[in-house]
Amino acid sequence: MGNLIEIKGVTHAYKTPNGPLPVLDGLTIEVPEGEFAAVVGPSGCGKSTLTRLVAGLMKPDTGEVWLHGERVKSPRKTVGMAFQNPVMLEWRTILENVILPLEIVAPSMPRADRVARAMELLQLVGLDGFEGKRPSELSGGMRQRASLCRAIVHKPDVLIMDEPFGALDAFTREDLWQTMHELRAKEPFTAVLITHDLRESVYLGDQVIVLSGRPARTQFVLDVDYPGDGGLRQLEGLYTPECAAMLATLREQIQIAQGRHPAEAH
Ligand SMILES: Nc1ncnc2c1ncn2[C@@H]1O[C@H](COP(=O)(O)OP(=O)(O)O)[C@@H](O)[C@H]1O
Ligand SMILES: [Mg+2]
Repeated sequence: MGNLIEIKGVTHAYKTPNGPLPVLDGLTIEVPEGEFAAVVGPSGCGKSTLTRLVAGLMKPDTGEVWLHGERVKSPRKTVGMAFQNPVMLEWRTILENVILPLEIVAPSMPRADRVARAMELLQLVGLDGFEGKRPSELSGGMRQRASLCRAIVHKPDVLIMDEPFGALDAFTREDLWQTMHELRAKEPFTAVLITHDLRESVYLGDQVIVLSGRPARTQFVLDVDYPGDGGLRQLEGLYTPECAAMLATLREQIQIAQGRHPAEAH
């Protein structure tokens, strides 16, 4: 299997009243089909910009973005997106919110099939029984579960998540991590997850990409060798010496990305 996502030497600067603000500098990232790439980097380094480029919502100044062997030049319907604050339509029920991408991508799909598909996912994430509620009637964690369902309901090539669990409390966040693994086991997808939580990056990622400070380039890539038997990853694995070593490496790399020498950072 080849790379599903290829970001080749992407450079981008925003135009601002004070002149161009270089944000990405020759960024190169490869994500093989079915893999989960976690991306970490200093605040403001260009991570959200990267997600917009992959989704085709923005064009880079130079360099290329490829998805599934096709150059991305315009917004892609085959990308699913999830954000820190799920944008849900309050006048629609949870079920109708989850169905929304199917209405856009598969307008001829019979309504019964759309409902069945949405319900299948809502069941997987433990939201069956809540499909008739409005978004504001759900907790933040439940809304995020619904937004994950919505992001993958149309079976996108790639799921892009920009700090989706950032606003959740620690326990809810860990539950969502587990749900991510369960979803992936049932419906394999290729994913890019932007996060500032190193434990999250190791628990969910097959690779963790550390971006440098702005303008961002790929500073370091960690191949995650998660302890366990190869089945669903267990949260307890995070407390093993192997994970502690990976986390220490990542922390050191983040400090370098922030322009601090690790030895001086105490
Ligand atoms: N549309 C825009 N116009 C001008 N500057 C922007 C725009 N979007 C983001 N920026 C700036 O670009 C830099 C990178 O932004 P962003 O990609 O959101 O970083 P991150 O997600 O890593 O925090 C930041 O300094 C931000 O202020
Ligand atoms: Mg961001």
